[in-house]
Order: sequence, then C-alpha cells, then structure tokens
Amino acid sequence: MTKQDVVNHILSDCSSVMASSGRASAPVNIALAKYWGKRDEELNLPVTSSLSISLGPHGTVTEIIPNPSGNAIFCNGEPMGEDTVFHRRLMNFLALFRPSQAGFFTVRTENSIPTAAGLASSSSGFAAATKALNQLFSWNLPDRTLSILARLGSGSASRSIFDGFVEWHAGSLADGMDSYAEPLPYVWHDLRIGLLTVSQAAKPISSREAMRQTVATSPLYRQWPEKVNGDLAILKRAIRDQEFALFGQTAESNALTMHATMIAAWPSICYWLPETVREMHRIWNLRRDGVPVYFTMDAGPNIKLLFLQETLATVQAAFPNAAIVAPFPTSPQPNT
Ligand code: PMV
Repeated sequence: MTKQDVVNHILSDCSSVMASSGRASAPVNIALAKYWGKRDEELNLPVTSSLSISLGPHGTVTEIIPNPSGNAIFCNGEPMGEDTVFHRRLMNFLALFRPSQAGFFTVRTENSIPTAAGLASSSSGFAAATKALNQLFSWNLPDRTLSILARLGSGSASRSIFDGFVEWHAGSLADGMDSYAEPLPYVWHDLRIGLLTVSQAAKPISSREAMRQTVATSPLYRQWPEKVNGDLAILKRAIRDQEFALFGQTAESNALTMHATMIAAWPSICYWLPETVREMHRIWNLRRDGVPVYFTMDAGPNIKLLFLQETLATVQAAFPNAAIVAPFPTSPQPNT
C-alpha cells in the first residue's frame, strides 16, 4: 500500500473546494515514551505506541497558497533551497494532495521554537502543513484523520495535531487507519521543559535511517517494544497522579534505553557529543544533591530538561542557557 492509496481512500469520502489559501499552526512535541522503529516504512507505521508532550505555543505556522507556475517554500521569510532535505520531503508530501498535474504550491512557514533550541521541526512542520491543507481544500476532516495524514509526512507529526499530552496508537492494520494520535485528558500546570542546546549541527544520520539500522542490527532492539509499552503505561499513571519523580525517571530511562539500542547497532549510532554526556552528569549530580530534575533526548545531541515550576530558579542557575517552556497555561502563583 502506498501513501497515495491512503490519501485517495481518505479523500474519497469528503468534498473538496479550494480556497485562495490555507493557514494553520501546530506545536512541536517531545516524546516521553519514544517512537523508535517502523513496521511499515512507506506509511510510517510504528512498531509501538508512543506518548508525547506538545510545547504549547512553540511550533510552526504554515500558509499554503496554490501557485500554477511552480513550487516554492519560504522558511521564516527566506526562500528554502530545493536541494534541502526538508524541501524535498515537504514537496513530496504536498504532491500527494495536488488537485491536478498543473497544481503547485507556495508554502510560507514560520517556526516559533525558542531560538537556537536546536529542535527538529518535522513534527510541527508536517502537522501544520496537514492542517493548512484541510483549510485550503475545506475538507473539514476530524483531528484523528488529520493525524493519520500528518503521519505520512513524518511519524512524530501524527502527535503534533494535538496540544498537551498525546498518545499515538501503533495500530495493527496494514493501511494504518488505526494508527493515529489522540490527546490525553490531563493538564499539568507546573510542568516545565528546558531546551538545552548542545549543538545545532545537522544530524550525522537521519532518524529514518537510524531506526532502520537499529531494527536491522541491534541485539538490544528485541527488548524495546516491551520497554516502551511498560513505560507508556507507567507514564500515563504518573501524569494522571502528577507523580513527578516517577514521571521523570520513566521518561529519562526510556530515552536512555532508546539510545542504548542505537549504540548497540552496527555500525553504531551515537548522537551524543562529549558536551551531551557532560550535561547528563551535571543533571545526575544535581539529583544526587536532591534537585528533582530529569531529562529526555531525541535523535540528536540536545537535551530536554524535565522539572517543576518550584525548581525553576535552581534549574536556571545551573543551566542559564536553557530555554524554558511551559507546555500548559501556568497556574496562578500564590500572593506572597
Ligand atoms: O518522526 P521522525 O521520523 O522524525 O522520528 C522521531 C523519532 C524520535 O524523535 C527520536 C522519537 C519520537 O517519538 O519522536
């Protein structure tokens, strides 16, 4: 089954009227129980379910305008080179929805992720593009279906359709119609995320390639599905009960295990730089001193700190360069 088959199937049920443009926003999300490994490479169907937190207002705003004379992408006002990976991936995605052979698009995309956070924007980028297409063609598709379409662009984009805590169900169908994300009904006002940029250099290996290599060669990958399923259940409980230590420990352990599966692949994939390891030790030292701060990491060298508002001053003193994000509206502070 191809991406185009899935798109045709979904759009066969809805009417389409093209407006002059479509515009939408979507948040970046950070996985707490990670998606690592595909059961279908073409449709980005995952081996396991995963759970993430969206970063509130931080993400991508995308406008899509039909343009009969050719494709163009502007990112934060600058034209994007046709030879860049994101240009190629986004254009391949948009080609799935072209109304005719002569239908092209101009895309204007703005990222509002804290500057220099070194966050990949594929999750928010493909989610915002999917929502903008829904506007442009007046499909009125439900969020669950938008999540399925966004997944065809990038797996983690399926979760960026929603705010707050989000679970992406792995599903088991070959066409992926049961592999979509949905929001969890929990709010954690005092939760904070610190984006600690260690390097902004391009990744040495894409997450797509790294997943493929890990699944094919890592002797540790066999244990990964069980680990994620267990962590996902624990995280849901910890979030529901706002048990921060359990939450932080489970997320950190999940990230470290994901990196362990890659390090054990052959050739080994190690996204960590010496600075990454140095920061990890600083976090562990802080914890030894009684400061409840944990971390997670994706397919790159940068660290995302997990902590509560009450620890903000200590975290800021220890990591003055971290960009602090409140994923939920913050709770009113008591008068002092
Ligand atoms: O959606 P992709 O192909 O960029 O893969 C994302 C993989 C991780 O960020 C490492 C984990 C995740 O669940 O987001």
